[in-house]
Amino acid sequence: MIKTRMTELFGCKRPIMLAGMNWVTTPELVASVCNAGGLGILATARCTPEETRKYIREIRSLTDKPFGINQLLILGQVAKDTIDVAVEEKVPVINYTLGKPWFIDRVHAYGGKVIGTTAFVKHALKAEQLGCDAIVVTGAEAAAHGEEATTLVMLPIVASKVKIPIISAGGYSDGRGLAAALALGASAVSMGTRFALTKESIVHEAFKQLCLQGSENDTIVSDKFDGMRGRALKTPVTEKMAKGGFPVADAFRGAYDIKTMLNLNWFQFMGMGFKMMASDEDHPMWVLARQAAGNLRHTKALYNGDTKEGIFFAGQVIGSCSDLPTVAELIDRVMAEAEATIRKNNSMLA
Ligand SMILES: Cc1cc2nc3c(=O)[nH]c(=O)nc-3n(C[C@H](O)[C@H](O)[C@H](O)COP(=O)(O)O)c2cc1C
Repeated sequence: MIKTRMTELFGCKRPIMLAGMNWVTTPELVASVCNAGGLGILATARCTPEETRKYIREIRSLTDKPFGINQLLILGQVAKDTIDVAVEEKVPVINYTLGKPWFIDRVHAYGGKVIGTTAFVKHALKAEQLGCDAIVVTGAEAAAHGEEATTLVMLPIVASKVKIPIISAGGYSDGRGLAAALALGASAVSMGTRFALTKESIVHEAFKQLCLQGSENDTIVSDKFDGMRGRALKTPVTEKMAKGGFPVADAFRGAYDIKTMLNLNWFQFMGMGFKMMASDEDHPMWVLARQAAGNLRHTKALYNGDTKEGIFFAGQVIGSCSDLPTVAELIDRVMAEAEATIRKNNSMLA
């Protein structure tokens, strides 16, 4: 058994977090991770407040363990409404990214915890100053949005500068990785791609198989997928998009879809765009339009298995994934490997 500051802080048994993944982290996947001893996080960026409440209650019907939600704060009013619902529902953990949290005191008031996610050392320091209980530090290997610095470089730098527990993300799939993260100063790891490749994950079988066949070199980084630097599975369409220009027609169709999905009028949708412009990360307005365009393609991949048009965010770690275990099998395996690795390394001490 491995006890860390993370397991103590959140009251879970194992130092493993399910990374929030838009579309992928269904209530079933979240609850499976919690029931296997990890910390499951529900991504809510695509959810209306009503859906957020429904999913939170579904998770509670499937597990009595602590869990969390993840929200992108650049979504402005949409993010505010989701966080309000999560606070009303007293969700144990609120995980945010891309923005400044305004809700920390409200979460602490009911005994909840707040985790900031960042890919920059300076933002990790800021999250600690603002009162976060823990931070997720994401390295360049990660699926979806990340920056240049790798996990191996970022983690020890952040660990030497902050006091709050660190959850390391980007590139984890097994127990050797977990043992390494603990050695580098983390209290847990967060896995996205690896959990997307489990039996419980709703990712379409076609994309699961493409990932399993892929090597560590079969992902591609571009800001063309949804306007922000992101890593996706390398396919003919992602390679073409990475070389191409701004997808105007897709952006219009996607903008309409997002507006409808989030139940916004055009005025509110534009407001969200301006909020992004004013955010700390300095995302320009067109990021929203590109996100809208990318959104269409993500659902095509995840739900329809459309390998010609769909985009699937995936990390370099696909190179070390070769099976589709259940969540419980995966977590048990990672823990057993981590314990064996720590024992083996300790035995090297003369
Ligand atoms: C399909 C997919 C969707 C994602 N959506 C989100 C999201 O909505 N919010 C977020 O903060 N991160 C999102 N991520 C990134 C993960 O939270 C996490 O940072 C990343 O998967 C960690 O790296 P790994 O894939 O190497 O484990 C997504 C990742 C994937 C694979």
